[in-house]
This record gives sequence, structure tokens and C-alpha cells, in this order.
Amino acid sequence: MGVEGRSAVVSGGTGVLGRAVVRAYLEAGAHVAAPVRDRAKGDALRAELGDLAGTDDDPRLLVVEADPADRAAMDAAVEEVIRRWGRLDALANLAGGYDRGAPWDLEAMERQWSANVRTAVTATTACLRPMRARGYGRIVSVGSFGAARGGADTTGYAMSKTAVVRWTESLAAALKDEGITANVILPSIIDHPVNRERMPKADAAKWVRPEEIAAVILFLTSPEASGVTGAAIPVLGRV
Ligand SMILES: NC(=O)c1ccc[n+]([C@@H]2O[C@H](COP(=O)([O-])OP(=O)(O)OC[C@H]3O[C@@H](n4cnc5c(N)ncnc54)[C@H](OP(=O)(O)O)[C@@H]3O)[C@@H](O)[C@H]2O)c1
Repeated sequence: MGVEGRSAVVSGGTGVLGRAVVRAYLEAGAHVAAPVRDRAKGDALRAELGDLAGTDDDPRLLVVEADPADRAAMDAAVEEVIRRWGRLDALANLAGGYDRGAPWDLEAMERQWSANVRTAVTATTACLRPMRARGYGRIVSVGSFGAARGGADTTGYAMSKTAVVRWTESLAAALKDEGITANVILPSIIDHPVNRERMPKADAAKWVRPEEIAAVILFLTSPEASGVTGAAIPVLGRV
């Protein structure tokens, strides 16, 4: 898949899915910039990737201290990408998470909105500047297959992940004549240490592996995926 020599921004790169996606891009020959909230986690990511991460002077993985929900920090991170590599081809919006909350707990809903929607919208807005100027871009965000219906204590999660799907549709419609695609993937339960701990009796082999999701993201952010935009794609593993 044609991401070799291209550059991608990956938010949530310190997470389980994010680490797999960063590795997949680097193994495919792309440059990656990872905006991170916690510098130490970013340094650990670079260390974990060894030679794949490149050198401090010539990084193939650039760790930037920037909260993806902070517009000014993301603008600076994007400028750094353009300055170093002269191009920004792809954005993977992976930052986010799951939290419980009842339908009357507005604060919990706002926290989930911030984690799952504000991060994606803000990082995208920053990346769109060079993408629109060049007339090329690939944007993938992460919703959740399990968020299609609200549960008694998953209000903010279901609302915010559904919002990412509707927002992606709007984004794709707004950009359809500009060479920029926007899609959202809908994983079910990811094979993640936290899920294994929470559900010790489940058959984890059925869950979708981070590497499997990474392969879908690499395809959706390749030039070959020009015909796919505004799609919400379930990535369910074997459940
Ligand atoms: N795990 C699942 O079963 C599952 C299922 C469906 C969808 N998803 C989605 O897949 C994506 C990746 O999840 P994961 O499983 O890799 O989880 P993870 O291991 O907990 O990683 C989450 C990543 O998102 C970042 N993040 C979390 N909240 C943030 C916030 N408020 N502002 C900025 N960054 C934030 C974290 O940064 P820090 O390191 O700074 O905390 C971390 O890099 C998430 O959007 C998640 O909702 C996960």
C-alpha cells in the first residue's frame, strides 16, 4: 500500500491501538508525527520502536508534546511536520477512550465529548490547512461498533462516538471535491490488556487485534483509497 515516503499524524500514538498504527506506518516506510500529552510516554514509544523511529536529528517518528484537543499546539505540530518533511498526507485520529456515565451526568458526557470529539475535530482542523492547500489528504477517525446504541451507563461514550460518525460524514461531504477523504472505523472490542483484565473469561482470540485495525487504517490513508469517503467501516475481528 502506497504510504511509503508519505507522512502521517497519529493522535493517541501512546495507546495500544496507536502504537500498532505508528509501527505499521514506519514499517511501510512512512514518516509519523505523534502529538502526545505526556512527553515520557512519547519517549517510551520512540525507545520501543528502536531503529524504526530514526535518530534524534533525523527522526522517522517525531514525538511532539501537544494535546490533540489544543488547537494552538496542533497548529505548531503541523508546522513542524511541514518544516521537516514538506508534506502531510494522512491523519489518524486515534485519541479517545471509554468512560461510564449515566444519562443525567452531564460532566461525564462533556469529558467523553472532549476525549472523543474535541480531539478529532481539533487535530483535523489543524491538519486540513496544508491538506487543503495541496488538494490531497486522508483522514481516518475511530468510532466504536458498540456505541451504536446508548446503554444505561454508556451515555457519553455512545453519544460522542456516534458524533464522530456523523461528523465524519459531514467532513467527507464538505471535502469531496478537494482530494481529501474522511472515513471512520468502528472497532468492536480490541484485544487490549485492559479488556483482557475486565473480561478474563472472554475468548480474546475473537477480538480484533490492533495490527488488524492498523492494516485497515493504512489502506484508508493510502492514495489507492481515493474512492472511499464518508464511510463508517466495522472492524470486528471474529466476534
Ligand atoms: N479498546 C477498545 O476496545 C476500543 C473499542 C472501540 C474503539 N476504541 C477506540 O480506539 C481508540 C484507541 O483506543 P485504545 O484501545 O488504544 O486505548 P488506549 O490504549 O487507552 O489509548 C488511548 C490513547 O488516546 C489518548 N487519549 C485518551 N483520552 C484523551 C484525551 N482526553 N485527550 C487526548 N488524548 C487522549 C491516550 O493518551 P495518553 O497516553 O496521554 O493517556 C492514548 O494515547 C480510542 O479512540 C478508543 O475509544 C477502543
